[in-house]
Amino acid sequence: MNKKNELIYEGKAKKVFTHDDLDKVKIEFKDDATAFNALKKAKYEGKGKLNCLISAKIFRTLIEKNIPTHFIELENQNTMIAKKIKVIPLEIVLRNIAFGSLCKQTTIKPRTPLSKPLIDIYLKNDELNDPLITKDRIELMNILSSKDLDFIIDLTLKINLILKSFFKNIQLQLVDFKLEFGFDIKNNILLGDEISPDNCRLWDLNQKNDTIVSLDKDLFRNDLGGLIEAYSEINRRINEFLETN
Ligand code: TMP
Repeated sequence: MNKKNELIYEGKAKKVFTHDDLDKVKIEFKDDATAFNALKKAKYEGKGKLNCLISAKIFRTLIEKNIPTHFIELENQNTMIAKKIKVIPLEIVLRNIAFGSLCKQTTIKPRTPLSKPLIDIYLKNDELNDPLITKDRIELMNILSSKDLDFIIDLTLKINLILKSFFKNIQLQLVDFKLEFGFDIKNNILLGDEISPDNCRLWDLNQKNDTIVSLDKDLFRNDLGGLIEAYSEINRRINEFLETN
């Protein structure tokens, strides 16, 4: 990173730096992996680069379909230039198939297809362990107006349709994913953060039997190994698809 660029914020998987243009930031993707609110930590050489490249290609696809995002361009393989946003402290999770915490917290069986997408919203607060939150509590805390929350939910449903078909084209099933949003200087709501195998569950559709083959961070969460190989495979499939379409 250029000396003039100051570190503004360091998260678990990314560092955010100032840009010479004050309306922009530089986001550097780290090789760190964390799970269970950072109780579990590891480093995977090359993960930052893969997530940055995968995210950039997905953001470009979303922008082509008129989804407002913070992404501007890649500066290098593990740094993207993005519009500066004030991040809304909510994690918007959309589920197409029941898995993960939904099955730990309810009686719904893992792998149950959901008849319509389920949106679960969590408060982004490490000290409180990102609790599941309600619409009324979001308004009570003055995090967002009801109108802005509805806008974000509607955008998330639209993003799901685009992502489901994007991943299906590369033989991956989009089980669930997490999004974050923010306000730009003009107060527009933009999709922020990243879209990568760190925050999506992606199952291989090239599987002949009934076993789940995850190509995402569940490999790390569940100590299954092969994380870099899986992320590289996703990046390879995306490149192959984009070159031929
Ligand atoms: P969950 O089943 O653990 O609630 O996760 C749902 C989805 O959200 C899954 O694709 C992983 C993603 N996720 C994050 O990106 N960050 C998080 O902190 C958590 C808990 C989940």
